[in-house]
Amino acid sequence: ARITLRQLLDHAAEHGYGVPAFNINNMEQGLAIMEAAALVDAPVIIQASRGARSYANDIMLAKMIDALAEMYPDIPLCMHQDHGNDEATCATAIRYGFTSVMMDGSLKADAKTAADYQYNVDITRRVVDMAHWVGASVEGELGVLGSLEHGGGEQEDGHGVEGKVSREQLLTDPDQAVEFVRATKVDALAIAMGTSHGAYKFSRKPDGDVLAMKVVEEIHRRLPNTHLVMHGSSSVPQDLQDIFNEFGGAMPQTFGVPVEEIVRGIKHGVRKVNIDTDCRLAMTGVFRKVATQNKAEFDPRKFLKPAMDAMRDICKLRFEQFGTAGNA
Ligand code: G3H
Ligand code: 13P
Ligand code: NA
Ligand code: ZN
Repeated sequence: ARITLRQLLDHAAEHGYGVPAFNINNMEQGLAIMEAAALVDAPVIIQASRGARSYANDIMLAKMIDALAEMYPDIPLCMHQDHGNDEATCATAIRYGFTSVMMDGSLKADAKTAADYQYNVDITRRVVDMAHWVGASVEGELGVLGSLEHGGGEQEDGHGVEGKVSREQLLTDPDQAVEFVRATKVDALAIAMGTSHGAYKFSRKPDGDVLAMKVVEEIHRRLPNTHLVMHGSSSVPQDLQDIFNEFGGAMPQTFGVPVEEIVRGIKHGVRKVNIDTDCRLAMTGVFRKVATQNKAEFDPRKFLKPAMDAMRDICKLRFEQFGTAGNA
């Protein structure tokens, strides 16, 4: 059954668990997530980026979500727009049946100037008004995702920030978070604590200098009733890197966000945990393996079925680790 982000995260807060939000672009990823959820009785957040919507087509995506909901009537399902960049993206998502949208008004901000902040407040507030009129939820974002390890030299799109900004300018400021939630009335708030999108987050297992979980704790202390969201939360497991590289891949050694740090976040108000890279890596590692081990194979299903199974396994593991399992 369909559920909004607000309904789902209220339940998660009440019962002290977190919910992974997995990105989808195609049928196989949707099937993998729902199969995992059904195995462990977990509620689901499926999210689609703007890129996913243009890849799959809005009509195709909407009917796919309808189909998944019909196939798994007992699994609560929230369909969420990931990183909406303007009002139109959020409005059309809702029109296509999304029950939740992210209005990422921090996307345009290179650093935390007053004008950037006001732009973010204003556009997020407009989307909240619109979404709440029709019963959809809204996630906002404050702060700049990007590696502290690289001196803050990464923007969310992977491009460098002009002139590099300080650690304080990247991490979400707790005072500003309080003000932002009050001014926008968002249902959930994405915060920056040192993670970045994609596989290359850290060059070694992150410590408190580069992964600032203290910021999460401080914001939760100040905003105990706000659902917090962690982006860039793939763990980039070593075994998935190894499979990828064993079968002809050339992925430099990298480190993601340790699951125990996410679990610590969940103890401090983190309710939604965004994961895309781990699922991508699980699937494409299998593509490499099948292509390497059976060079005569040309039936796509022989690639896609085991890839789906690998994605199902990582989704199931995250449902168990985040305490989502058993809460459908
Ligand atoms: O926010 C990033 C997500 O991993 C979606 O990525 O824009 O390539 O679909 P994408
Ligand atoms: P990862 O690249 O760490 O999976 O993060 C995904 C994300 O934050 C989507 O919004
Ligand atoms: Na941001
Ligand atoms: Zn993100």
